[in-house]
Amino acid sequence: MRVMERSFREQLFFLVLCLSVLKGDSRYIENNEISKDELYSFFNSELKREIPEELMYRRPLRCLDMVAVEGQFTFTAEHPQLSCAAFFMAEPTEVISVDFDNVDIDCRGGDFITVFDGWVMKGEKFPSSQDHPLPVYERYVDYCDSGSLRRSVRSSQNVAMVFFRIHNSGSTFTLTVRKHINPFPCNVISQSPEGSYTMVIPQQHRNCSFSIIYPVEIDISEFSLGHYNNFPKRSMPGCAESGDFVQLLGGNGIDTSKLLPITDLCISFTGPTHMKIGCDNTVVRMVSSGKFVNRVSFSYRLLDSQELQTIKLNNVEDFCFNN
Ligand SMILES: *[C@@H]1O[C@H](CO)[C@@H](O)[C@H](O)[C@H]1NC(C)=O
Repeated sequence: MRVMERSFREQLFFLVLCLSVLKGDSRYIENNEISKDELYSFFNSELKREIPEELMYRRPLRCLDMVAVEGQFTFTAEHPQLSCAAFFMAEPTEVISVDFDNVDIDCRGGDFITVFDGWVMKGEKFPSSQDHPLPVYERYVDYCDSGSLRRSVRSSQNVAMVFFRIHNSGSTFTLTVRKHINPFPCNVISQSPEGSYTMVIPQQHRNCSFSIIYPVEIDISEFSLGHYNNFPKRSMPGCAESGDFVQLLGGNGIDTSKLLPITDLCISFTGPTHMKIGCDNTVVRMVSSGKFVNRVSFSYRLLDSQELQTIKLNNVEDFCFNN
């Protein structure tokens, strides 16, 4: 048992080393003289999925940035930077925490660092305010307004972002980004243009969206709304009357409430399950009454430029190409 434990730890450590090297972080690792105790405390915290600060990945944060790994990201202004944004992203089954560290900015002079629970792009929000558990104003946490009260902000889904404005050169701050397991993911933005996913809403009165921000072919492979399984002989209402259904939405923004319906899937659904959607954003949204356990499984892959061209030619009225 002990032997197994040790070799498991060694494997983990090897994996972490490899990852660090892949991230170009090898020099940092080489400079470290890690003692056995430190190693063990590291592995204990690794089991809790928390990397101690001294082993965290570090890099500067840019004024416009995208971060998909855990680590410490330090912004230092070389000149006034009045409109900056960093987008954070994790796996569908994770949420993100952002901690403010070593903040040296001029709050009174109009500087700010604001964490947003979700993404904002071109004025649109994900998750849409309809589908997010918190009211919009509670989704913004500003460092200057909250002072020392909120040093750590946790997102409700696998995406979050930070807006910041810095007037004075030399002002600086560090964000520590960590990922945490989310046992009941609801709203998700897919990290990649292909993959598969099963969305489950376990008897909750809420709506969940899975957003793929690429034109894709989507294949809905499995689809079960609780009432269908429970009452197979009852006459089936249409989707509009049904409190539980799945929507396929498309459009060019990220706010799911502004997307257009491509099709609704409910118990009377008999249509095709393969669809090619030439939109910038394709969304599977499940509306759930809370009476049933609802689930939908699907897979998706990126459309190539030839497929996109074909869709464009065949569907003159396709709303995703009417720009
Ligand atoms: C879920 O969405 C439906 C239709 O879009 C809406 O009528 C309903 O109020 C929403 N439910 C919740 C809990 O937001």
